[in-house]
Amino acid sequence: MPEPTIYELSSPGRAGVRFPEPDVPATPLPEGLLRKDLPLPELSELDVVRHFTHLSTKNYSIDGGFYPLGSCTMKYNPKINEETARLPGFTMTHPLQPIETVQGNLAMMYQLQEWLKEITGFAGITLQPAAGAQGELTGVLIMRAYHCSRGDVKRTKILIPDSAHGTNPASTAMSGMEVLSLPSDARGNIDLDALRAVCDDTLAGLMLTNPNTLGLFDEHVLDIVDIVHKAGGLVYGDGANLNALLGIVRPGDTGFDIMHLNLHKTFSTPHGGGGPGSGPVVVAKHLVDFLPTPVVTIIEEGNEEMPPLYGYATPTKSIGRIKSFNGHFGMLVRAYTYISMHGAEGLREIAELSVLNANYILARLKNIYHVPYDRICMHEFVAEGKWDDAPEVHALDIAKRLMDYNFHPPTNYFPLIVHEALMIEPTETESKQTLDTFIDAMVKIAEEAHTQPELLKEAPHNTPVGRLDEIKAAKELVLCCMLPETA
Ligand SMILES: Cc1ncc(COP(=O)(O)O)c(C=O)c1O
Repeated sequence: MPEPTIYELSSPGRAGVRFPEPDVPATPLPEGLLRKDLPLPELSELDVVRHFTHLSTKNYSIDGGFYPLGSCTMKYNPKINEETARLPGFTMTHPLQPIETVQGNLAMMYQLQEWLKEITGFAGITLQPAAGAQGELTGVLIMRAYHCSRGDVKRTKILIPDSAHGTNPASTAMSGMEVLSLPSDARGNIDLDALRAVCDDTLAGLMLTNPNTLGLFDEHVLDIVDIVHKAGGLVYGDGANLNALLGIVRPGDTGFDIMHLNLHKTFSTPHGGGGPGSGPVVVAKHLVDFLPTPVVTIIEEGNEEMPPLYGYATPTKSIGRIKSFNGHFGMLVRAYTYISMHGAEGLREIAELSVLNANYILARLKNIYHVPYDRICMHEFVAEGKWDDAPEVHALDIAKRLMDYNFHPPTNYFPLIVHEALMIEPTETESKQTLDTFIDAMVKIAEEAHTQPELLKEAPHNTPVGRLDEIKAAKELVLCCMLPETA
C-alpha cells in the first residue's frame, strides 16, 4: 500500500494552530505576495507529527540495524559526539570572529591536527576538505604544485590501481592530471611489473588505497613506494580504509607522501544521509609548504600562566583555499570527541576488532560463497554472489533478499574487478551475536538460491516498497507531493 500523502490526510477546516483574535488593526498584505490558489493541506499538529515520524521509520539506519556496506565503514556514531558538537561554545561562534574570541575552537582544531598527524605519521595537515573525494583533489593539486615548484612540469601522469574507488580517477581527472589504470595481480596486490613498466619521467605519482577496496593489505607496499620514488613520483594514500590500521601501521612511516582521511568513516562522524563528511589531508615534511590556506597554528607560545594563542597561518607555497573557512567544523568536533574518548589503546582496539570481525564472517562464509581473493582480509572482504548451479541468481538478488532479513545489503558490483561483487564490512562496533545472525541469513539465502531462486529474484518482500527500477529510482526522482488536482 502506498503511503498516503499529506494531502490525502488533509481534512477541511482542521488546523494545527489557532491564533487569538488580533488586538491590533488588520493590515492587508501587499498584492501579489500571497497565492490565492495554493491548496495547503489542513491537518492537526498530531497528524503532521505522526505522518513525518512514520515516514522517518521507513528509512534504514545504523541506529536501526546492521549495515555491512563495504568501503563505507558504517560504524555506530556515538551519541556523545552529537552532544559535544551541539555545545553552544561551538555552535554560537562564527569563523569571522576575532581569533581572541574563538580560542577554544582553534585549540580544539589544533589538537585534532596534532592527533591526526600522530596517528598517521605525517608532518602537516589541512582540516578543510569536505569529504574524501575533495581530499583526493587537494592531494593531487599539492602533488602538481610540488612538481611545478621544481620546474618538473612534464610530470602529469597519476597511476591508479584498477581496484580503486571511483572517486580516485574522478578527482585526479578533475585536477587536470592524466589517469593511468594499473592492473592487480592474482593476490589482489598491484602488479609490480605493470607498475615498473609505466614509471618514467612523466610520472607525477601513484594513488594507492591500502588496505585496498578488496579489503587486502598490499603485500608489496614498501616496494611500490620505492619504485615510485625512484622514478621521481610521489605516493598518495587514499586513507579511507584507515580503520583497519589505527594504532598498528602509520602510513607516513611506510613512505607515503600524502594521504586523506575520511573522518566520517574512521572517526565515526555520521555520513550517508546524515553527512556532511570531512576529508583532512596529511602530508610529509617536503609538502607542508603547499597545504591549503589557512592552517590553524600557535601564533604565540604559552607559558605557565598563559595558554598559547592560536590563530591562522598561510603556508608559503599554498595551493590556496580548498573550502570555505575551516571545512565542516561540526565534524571536527565529533572526530575530536571520538579520539579523546578512545585514547591510543582504544584506537588500536578499533582496528583489531574491525579486522577480527571481517575475518570471522569471511571464515564462516567462504565455503558457501566464492571468495576470489582468498587470504586473510583486513576490515572488509569481497565475495561473489554467483553460483554455477544457480545461474539465474545474481549479487543484486542476494542483496535485495538480505533486506527481508532486516539487514542493509553489502556494497555490490564494486570493486569493478570482481564480477557480482558483494563487499562486506562489519566494522568493530558489531557484536558476535549480530555477526552470527547476519551469517545465518547469508547461509539461508545461499540455500534459497538453490532451492527457491524466485524468492531472491522477487525480493525484497517485507519492505515498504518492493524492488525498484534501479535506474529510474535514481534518474526520475519524485521529490514533491502531487497536488490533489494533478495527482
Ligand atoms: C576507498 C575510498 N576512497 C575514497 C572514498 C571517497 O570518500 P567520500 O565519499 O568521502 O568522498 C571512499 C568512500 O567511500 C572510499 O571508500
